[in-house]
Amino acid sequence: GTSTPFIVAVDGPAGSGKSSVSKAVARRLGYGFLDTGAAYRALAWHVLDRGADTADEDAVLAAAADFPFRQGLDPDDRLVHVGDVDVTTAIREPRVSGAVSGVARVPAVRVQVNDAFRRIVRESDYPAVVVEGRDITTVVAPDAPVRILLTAAPEVRAARRAAELDAEDAAAVAAALHRRDAKDSAVVDFLTAAEGVEVVDSTDLDFDQTIDAVIAVIERCAPEA
Ligand code: DC
Repeated sequence: GTSTPFIVAVDGPAGSGKSSVSKAVARRLGYGFLDTGAAYRALAWHVLDRGADTADEDAVLAAAADFPFRQGLDPDDRLVHVGDVDVTTAIREPRVSGAVSGVARVPAVRVQVNDAFRRIVRESDYPAVVVEGRDITTVVAPDAPVRILLTAAPEVRAARRAAELDAEDAAAVAAALHRRDAKDSAVVDFLTAAEGVEVVDSTDLDFDQTIDAVIAVIERCAPEA
């Protein structure tokens, strides 16, 4: 682009709605949208595809060094590729979800992936990019003009996730969500807001109200946008 896009950094736990909310905000404002979890998922897929073990740090690093990952920023085109393979659906499979934290916990991998995120944003033609993940407000873009932690009470997140999955066993979904929170927060602390990060708690908000709350923060923090 002619000028560097600014970043709207959004972090939050599983089931906080950050993905769907961030995407909707990007669509509404004409911004790009980057789902960073998809990159970690695609890398986990890539490690498994090479027949390597995601618990083997050296194998993970070798896979990360040879990772032809492509992901667009268009909120209406969410395709993810590794080389010529469309992995959009495969990266949501349980075998990948189960393997991804093994990949995400390797510090050298995070450095490399974060550099790729910054480059993707820098090279885009959008005026701004909503970058969504776990460590965007703290590590990837600590200087972003807009930094938001999207939270919701654990039981609300579990209920949303259960509805999304059409699950009958809400207790099992809550247990799985709790396990994922514990695993993920061993890698980065995404449950507490860093200094200067705006908290948007969606516990008592519906989807549209959450979008409006996020847009209100953007308008306040980046009035020139
Ligand atoms: O948001 P998600 O479920 O698609 O994230 C997939 C995994 O990647 C999850 O284990 C958390 C991890 N992740 C991360 O460590 N840092 C990010 N910026 C985004 C995701």
